[in-house]
Amino acid sequence: MLKGTFPVEKFKALQTPFYFYDIELLKETLKMVTTEANKYGYHVHYAVKANANPRILSVISSFGLGADCVSGGEIQAALNAGFPADKIVYAGVGKADWEINLGLDNNILCFNVESAVELQIINELAAAKNKVASIALRINPEVDAHTHAKITTGMKENKFGINLSLLGKVLDEICTLKNVKLTGIHSHIGSQITDMSAFRNLAIRVNEIQDELEARNIKIQNINFGGGLGIDYYHPNHLPIPAFDNYFAVFNKLLQVRPGQQVHFEPGRSIVAQCGTLISKVLYVKEGEIKKFAILDAGFTELIRPAMYDAHHRMENISSDEEIEIYDVVGPICESSDVFGKDVELNKTHRGDLIALRSAGAYGEVMASQYNCRQLPKAYYSDQL
Ligand code: LLP
Repeated sequence: MLKGTFPVEKFKALQTPFYFYDIELLKETLKMVTTEANKYGYHVHYAVKANANPRILSVISSFGLGADCVSGGEIQAALNAGFPADKIVYAGVGKADWEINLGLDNNILCFNVESAVELQIINELAAAKNKVASIALRINPEVDAHTHAKITTGMKENKFGINLSLLGKVLDEICTLKNVKLTGIHSHIGSQITDMSAFRNLAIRVNEIQDELEARNIKIQNINFGGGLGIDYYHPNHLPIPAFDNYFAVFNKLLQVRPGQQVHFEPGRSIVAQCGTLISKVLYVKEGEIKKFAILDAGFTELIRPAMYDAHHRMENISSDEEIEIYDVVGPICESSDVFGKDVELNKTHRGDLIALRSAGAYGEVMASQYNCRQLPKAYYSDQL
């Protein structure tokens, strides 16, 4: 089985657990996404929520991407990392007043508005500053993403976006507000989407929505399709860069772009997932009655995806090339959900071996917690070790 190549000797000197980022792979991925998007003049705003590590953000901003933020903290992190304010979009069902004000003060590109009540508040806060906020309506397009229920967002029952049936009412309301300007529509149907038919359906639905808007004499300057492109968690070495070409081609083929219209995307996972690895040490190999456990010094405090979404992360013993054995790989946290994987094939494992948990660059470090009074994990970079 193919293993990733890691500087294992250098790792031995570092305190585990830690995140290791392959900066070359990140740059290759960024080159690919920008090249493919540029073919069609598409705008890419990196979804900061996937990984807000300052070094990672500054590499991404150096490639000219914009940022998609979901909080004031993310807006600040994006600005600190050099993302220009006029390439920052801001979504979220619960924007606090100070967060809206931060966006207004920095003249961000757009607020992606998720409800009629929010619209009124943005209008009030903008009026107090004598400004006109540029807004896009986040529409819930009722397109099934065919992904894990906890990361599906585009269905009627989800809290996100404005339901299609309520769109007319919200549009009427916008006409009465002087300090917001409708400049776009936005949608995001979910995450880790590998079935391109979901994106096809989204593009077709957006055409229908545009027709409806035009019937009301509303012209839309910007269309934003959110993020969601999935990655291959099972074979991180085979295709480490997602097929951005196929992804953008779907929209190019199906979307009926109006003259002068700009098309935007907010990928997160597809940009950063494969460049990040969680490196952990085996504390104990415990023989149970029916199971053998590899107990790591990393737990769901460092990588919560397996516990939270039953997510699969490929695991490799990068210290051993002995015969393959079967282990349940678990963390040290006092919760039975602190399991990285059951019946995992690893080269024979010993106390002190290093285990690599692959494809952890997205929603890994950024979701770490200090539960059990643990320390947040450190990060190291391939070009600085
Ligand atoms: N835009 C919006 C409005 C979003 O809500 C999200 C992700 C994205 C863009 C980026 O989506 P991506 O390209 O990364 O799929 N913690 C979960 C994923 C949560 C995604 C939340 N929204 C996980 O670990 O799988």
